[in-house]
Amino acid sequence: MPQLNRGIFIVLEGIDGAGKTTQLDLLRQNLEDRGFSVVLSKEPTNGTWGQHIRKLYVNDERMKVTADEEAELFVRDRAEDVALTIQPALDQKKIVIVDRYFYSNLAYQGARGASMDLIREHNACFPVPDLVFLIDLDPQLGTFRIQKYRDESTNAFEKYEELQKVRQIFNTLPDRNIIKITGNKSIEDIQHTILELALDYISQIVL
Ligand code: ADP
Ligand code: TYD
Repeated sequence: MPQLNRGIFIVLEGIDGAGKTTQLDLLRQNLEDRGFSVVLSKEPTNGTWGQHIRKLYVNDERMKVTADEEAELFVRDRAEDVALTIQPALDQKKIVIVDRYFYSNLAYQGARGASMDLIREHNACFPVPDLVFLIDLDPQLGTFRIQKYRDESTNAFEKYEELQKVRQIFNTLPDRNIIKITGNKSIEDIQHTILELALDYISQIVL
């Protein structure tokens, strides 16, 4: 089994329907097949704050909180995710793959008008990922892929106009760890690209 000399932190980002979950599952499988120990997480989590967040948008109550307050709820959820899952796994020199992280905070709450400087500030205490695979896709295609999200009244996050803004913010984030991946290719093509890049990075960390 390959030994890493430190933990590796990989994040998948992109709009809803971009293919994050699909690629995360494949990446985990491909890395485990090569003998690596992988830990997964997903934000919002199923913890206290994650459940609170879900209630807000399942009940269409998102507008009851300001954009800055909404941003803060995700930060609290992330604090739990880091403390309970991400940091312990990194300390054990595992590969951690997370479906959404603070880049979603910047893109989604930024699109709603929250202060991006404040979001940066409030996320500054969290570990910075080694690699962020940003899967870029037209929101129309993303929404088309997710049939269940077509009824926009049931999920305030799914509004097309807003997702355009979200995509635009994702695409202009200056972070050097972000690798943009074209999302309108086959699942296999995208996985091939992500896996090659991940293995290349990991090979530098193997003892
Ligand atoms: P996300 O986690 O980004 O919301 P998912 O991975 O759940 O997206 O994918 C949304 C839907 O689109 C799923 O039904 C999935 O099978 C499909 N899908 C994912 N990637 C692709 C792709 N590259 N081409 C076509 N369909 C895809
Ligand atoms: P999603 O990954 O779609 O979770 P689920 O599959 O459980 O619905 O995330 C739900 C929404 O949360 C998604 O539209 C993006 C949003 N989000 C933010 O607005 N800010 C954040 O910081 C994060 C992590 C997610």
